[in-house]
Formats: sequence, structure tokens, C-alpha cells
Amino acid sequence: MRVADLDIPEKVKEIQLKRGFTDLYPPQEDALETGVLEGRNLVLASPTASGKTLIAELCAMKHVVERGGKVLYMTPLRALAWEMYETFKAYAGVERRDGRKIRVGISTGDLDSSTPWLEPYDIVITTNEKCDSLLRHRTPWMDGVSLVVADEIHLIGGDRGPTLEVALARLRQLKPDLQILALSATIRNAEEVAEWLEAEWVATEWRPVELREGVNLNDTIMFKDGSLKRLKPLHRMDALNIALNVVIEGDQSLVFVESRRRSMSLAREAASALGGVLSKRELGRLQKVSADILVHGEKTSLSDDLASSISRGAAFHHAGLRTGHRRIVEGAFKAGKIKVIVATPTLAAGVNLPARTVVIGSYRRFVPGYGMYPISVLEYKQMSGRAGRPQYDDFGEAVLIASSSDEQDALMENYVLAKPERLYSRLASEAALRGHTLAAVASDYAHSEQGLLDFFGGTFYGYHYPPGNIKVILGAILRYLRLQDMIQYKGEHIYATDFGRRASELYIDPLSAVTLRDGLRERALEVTDFTWLHLICHTPNMRPILRPRRRDGEVVGAFAEEHRDEFACRVPDDGDFFDYEQFLGEVKTAMVLNAWIEETSEGDLLNRFSVQPGDRYSAVHNAEWLLYAAHELASVLGLPDPRRHLRQLRLRVKYGVTRRLLPLVRLRGIGRVRARVLHNSGFTSIASLKRAPVSRLVEIPLIGPRMAKVIKEQVGGVVDEEEWRRLESEEAEQRALTDFIEEEPEQV
Ligand SMILES: Nc1ncnc2c1ncn2[C@@H]1O[C@H](COP(=O)(O)OP(=O)(O)OP(=O)(O)O)[C@@H](O)[C@H]1O
Ligand SMILES: [Mg+2]
Repeated sequence: MRVADLDIPEKVKEIQLKRGFTDLYPPQEDALETGVLEGRNLVLASPTASGKTLIAELCAMKHVVERGGKVLYMTPLRALAWEMYETFKAYAGVERRDGRKIRVGISTGDLDSSTPWLEPYDIVITTNEKCDSLLRHRTPWMDGVSLVVADEIHLIGGDRGPTLEVALARLRQLKPDLQILALSATIRNAEEVAEWLEAEWVATEWRPVELREGVNLNDTIMFKDGSLKRLKPLHRMDALNIALNVVIEGDQSLVFVESRRRSMSLAREAASALGGVLSKRELGRLQKVSADILVHGEKTSLSDDLASSISRGAAFHHAGLRTGHRRIVEGAFKAGKIKVIVATPTLAAGVNLPARTVVIGSYRRFVPGYGMYPISVLEYKQMSGRAGRPQYDDFGEAVLIASSSDEQDALMENYVLAKPERLYSRLASEAALRGHTLAAVASDYAHSEQGLLDFFGGTFYGYHYPPGNIKVILGAILRYLRLQDMIQYKGEHIYATDFGRRASELYIDPLSAVTLRDGLRERALEVTDFTWLHLICHTPNMRPILRPRRRDGEVVGAFAEEHRDEFACRVPDDGDFFDYEQFLGEVKTAMVLNAWIEETSEGDLLNRFSVQPGDRYSAVHNAEWLLYAAHELASVLGLPDPRRHLRQLRLRVKYGVTRRLLPLVRLRGIGRVRARVLHNSGFTSIASLKRAPVSRLVEIPLIGPRMAKVIKEQVGGVVDEEEWRRLESEEAEQRALTDFIEEEPEQV
């Protein structure tokens, strides 16, 4: 089917042709034949890079341009939301029937807001959590949504799946004639997802680039079709041997391993093995990437390690790295500079980063409580599907690694030839259902036990099982919510109390809200910053907590003992092993946050607590949110004292600074490091910056002409015209100085 022949707005056609899309891929053709452009619901399940987004783009454009509709695009990750935003921005110049240009908006942040400014936007991209939160806030413009795209819907079977199915159930309850387009990786029961959503379905294994899947044993890969490929013996480790064979053929590879530690050690090995292989020119380009890593963010042994591997052509990639470093690695790999990435599986679920060869270095993964556990076929497919770059490769290779011929046979059968698992709902657990039940009552989805059962009947869970199955758990949850004064009954009718409603809007687990409330009321004997930091770490929303290692276990235990009077909740007995371990994890997390607001550097946090920047980031991000939640709950509960303390503490956690630096970090471009430098140079307030001559600011390390100008623009004060002109020209010359401001987070 040719793009030119499609029944879509002319301008949209032009955009496709300009991109070089002249023909549709076969699954795209199948998708259009279901009538999705005319408004039918569709579940499209196809492999990575088979062009699902284009179907969403065409539907969205037809919907907006011809029908004046509004589109909501839901994605599981912030990084993906931004990728989609870039994609849809290409249509911003297209006009609707009424002559108005299309507007594309994105919202992934603030979960306690109905985000009214998105009202006039035609296409809105959100994360699944933000969408759920918008529904909880009864955001008026959500009623106008007429097409929902649910991307990566196969994640409905994962931890955060319940949020997705509940949001979809609510959207359909609000608007029964809503059009739904669900995009999925290849799954076994696409037809069930389709039946749930009353949709047509297309399920295919078609890929734009052929995928050769195989299992390596010693120096030979056996492919699915029985063919063999012999490798040169270049390295004693099989995973790296495959990767190096690819590099000497002039290509790149992506190696998946089970842990962060392993990704780093393999990247180091790969880097030393690559030494003799790369040309001077290639090494020169890598030097620049390596330098980029070093100037981005605070220096840690992790960034040194990464920069050193990169300078020789290999990199590691895992969630302990700061987002900015991950983006640099991804960019340099796409540009062909980095030859080998050794990654943990988080990469497979994230941004689009194809490679000619994917090596699955380990098919086992550590699962807390189970030990090493084989990954699912779906996960294997997500990783192997990264092989083969549409514009460059004729085929992609995905290789598992066996250490015996029995294992080779087993891997062939259990992964290469296996079908992905069926998806099923994870909603029927108390932990998942608790928050959604409170939200359903607080935001008027349902007001009785039967109403709740009917509402949950509209979820994927409700499609598979009779709602009566959750009657017992639901009963227990309702009793709990009532006991905690989050809901009230009037006969059969259930209402949310102010406390319950606010907890639901704040998007925290009801259990967290109860913990915060009790702690706020109870107070410690001696209230300090640590009191509140520990209290938030004691809630189930502070996940994952940072567990003590052998190295710091004793220090954490001693700290807890010393600060015994500062806890606003019960300290478990150290004879109670599980509770006490959990407690120590909470204490350690609070200690890390405490060190952070005392301006401990990221390098020191890593050395002292083994906390990598990515984890430090998540802890800070969660803490900021929970301190905000605690502040808001203190307000509902009428507790003015802790409120003041919490407001300041939240800002300190956000910026990682002591109280004195707060006025400075509020300036654009000034993070904790520059604020400290300014403070040490005697600039302790906005007024002192206003008085300062520019020449004085320019001299300060890390400030220089560019930042001096940024500061002066914000604080004002008298500046000589000639001096200003000089700053402008110097600014243009100067390479952008990387600052230390927090970047976009990876996940909500
Ligand atoms: N008809 C087409 N002709 C040429 N290129 C296309 C066509 N359709 C899509 N593409 C290109 O294919 C690439 C992969 O598409 P897309 O990102 O939509 O994959 P996907 O199916 O969503 O995969 P994933 O499961 O990884 O999200 C994109 O770079 C896109 O530009
Ligand atoms: Mg996609």
C-alpha cells in the first residue's frame, strides 16, 4: 500500500513522503485494513521497530484534522514520552478543518495537578501515571479526549500494569464511545486484550530487518535454522568474543548482562580488548565523548570509570548512571562512535537503541526473594528485538550463550523457538488495589461496594475473572480505609473524607498517607530534619530503599541508636530480623538524604554509602514528592508547625543544599555546586549579587562570562553597556558549560 494512496490529510501525506516513507510496512497495512482510521478500536501487536508509531500518528492526525478530536498518548516512561513528543511535534504546522494549527503538548511531571493549561492542546502525551493522576483530579479537559493511544500495553502484565488498566477502564467509563489504539510487543493473547477493549486485532512477527536468533557454544553460534557461524577466538569470555567479532567486521553490538557490577566489569574488559582494533581517528572521536562525560554532572568514581571505558570504545549502561550520562552513551552509540555497550535489561525497556548484534550474556536475573531466575520469553524478545538497524543492516543477530550442548538445546527450545507468555492482570493484590479503590471512591468512579465491583469489572482483570473474585480483598481494603478515616459510609453509600481525597490526589499509597499522618501527629521526642526524612523513608512509596551493605551496616546501626529520640514511628526490636533489616534500610536512605542536604558530593555518597548517582536521583525525587505530600497532609490535618519545617526541607532536598544556599539555587543556571562557589566567594544573597560588578562575577571559578550574564539578567543591578556587549561576544565563543542542575528523570 502506497502512502500516496491513503485517505489521510494531504499535509500529513507530505510529511511522510518527506521523511522518505513511500510504502507502508505489511503490519501497517493490516492495521489500516481493520478500519482504525475510520474510528475502530485496534490492538496492534508486532515486534520492535515494526512501525507501530506511524499508525498512531496517522490515526491521531485524521482524528484531529478531520474530526476536531483530542488525542491522549500514554507511555510507560518519561524518556519515551519525550521521544513521542518529538515525533508529534513534526505535525505542529498542520491545520485542523477550522484553520487552527495543531497543538502538541506533553506532561509527565507534577502528579498533584489537573494541569489546566493542556486544555487547548489537540495531542497530549503523558506517562501512564500522569494520566491516572489527571483522572483522579477529575481534570475537565480529559472529558474531551476522544482517542487514546496506549503504547507498550504489554506492560499491563508488569508491576505498574494495574495503573494502566484502571486508567483505561476509567477513560472508557467516562466516554463509552472513546476510540482506543493499543500498541504492544508480540504477545500470545493479543486477541484477549482486544476482546477486553472491544477492538480488532493485528498480531504479527514481521520485522523490517530480518532477525537471526541463535545460541553460542564455545566459538560457534548455532542459528534457529540450524546454520552455524564460526567465530575467531578473540576473547576468553564468550559474550565479549561475539562482541569483538562484530567490531572487527566494522559493526557494533549491545551486550545484556544481569547486574550493574557485571556491566561495568565487562565494559572494562571490552575496552582493553578493543585497544588494538580502533583507528586513531576513531579514538580521537571517543576522546571527545569521554570528555563530555567528565564535564557533565558531579565527578564520581563511576563517571571516571565510564569515561575511561568510553575513551577506548566501550561503555556500560545501567540505572545507577545519571540520566545525562545515559543519554550521552546512547547518542555516541547511535553515531557509531562507541562500539560495544554492556547494559542491564533496563535498556531493553527504554529508548530505541538498535544494534546489529545483541548478545544476551545471561538469561538469568536476580529476583529478590527467589535468587537467580530465568527471564521470561517476553523479556528475551524485548532484548533480542533490539538487533538490526532498519537503515543500515540487512539482518540483525541475537545470540544467547550456553556452556554445554544440553544448555544450548534448552535455550533454543525455551527462548528462541518459544512463544511469549500470556499476559494477565496484576490488579488482584491488596497493594495494587488499595490505592485504586480509594481513588475510585474519591474521584467519583463508584460510590458503593457493588459500584466498585462493577468498575473493576471493566479492567483487564475483570475481563479474565468474575469481579466476585476480588470481593474478599475489596472488603478488607474498605474496612481498612474506613478504620483509617479515609472513607465514610452513609448506608450503602461510600464517600471519601478530606484526608482520603487529598491522599488520593497526592498519588501516594493509602498506607503511606496513614504513616505520614500518624508520624505528623505523633512527633518524635526531638524533632529534627532526620525525623521527617526517616518518616518518609518509612512509607511504601519510598521504593526502592537503599539497603546497608557489609561496609556501612554497622555505621547505619550505630547512627540509628544515636538518633533514637528522633524517630516519629516505632523502632522495631533488633531481634526481629526482617523488620529490623527493613528499618536499617529506611535509616540508611534517610542518612543519604541527610548527607545530600548537607552538600555531600555525589562522589562521597558513592564512596560512603555505595549509592550511585541514578539511585541518589530516584531517592531525592521520591523524597521531594513525599515531603510535599507530608506538607499537604499537615495542612488537611491542621498542623501548622511541621508545615513550615517541611516546606524548607523539601527545597533543600530538591537542590541538595544547606539552608543558606536556598536563595542562590533558586536562580536559573545555578545548582548546588555553583551556589557553593558563589557563597564561598562572599555572595550570600541576591542583594549582594545585584551589587556586584560583572567583572567580579566573571572571575569566580565555574561562573565565567556566560553564567555572570545569566545571573545579572535575573538579579538586575547596574551593568556597563560596553561590558555587556563583551559578555555577549564571549558567551558566543564559549563552549556551553555543563551545569550541575538536575536533569529530566527517567521514570515517574
Ligand atoms: N512505512 C515506513 N517506511 C519506512 N520507515 C518506517 C515506516 N514506518 C515506520 N518506519 C520507521 O521504523 C522505525 C521504527 O518504528 P517504531 O518506532 O514505530 O517502532 P515500534 O513498532 O513502535 O517498536 P517498539 O516496539 O520498539 O516501540 C522508525 O524509525 C520509523 O521511522
Ligand atoms: Mg513503539
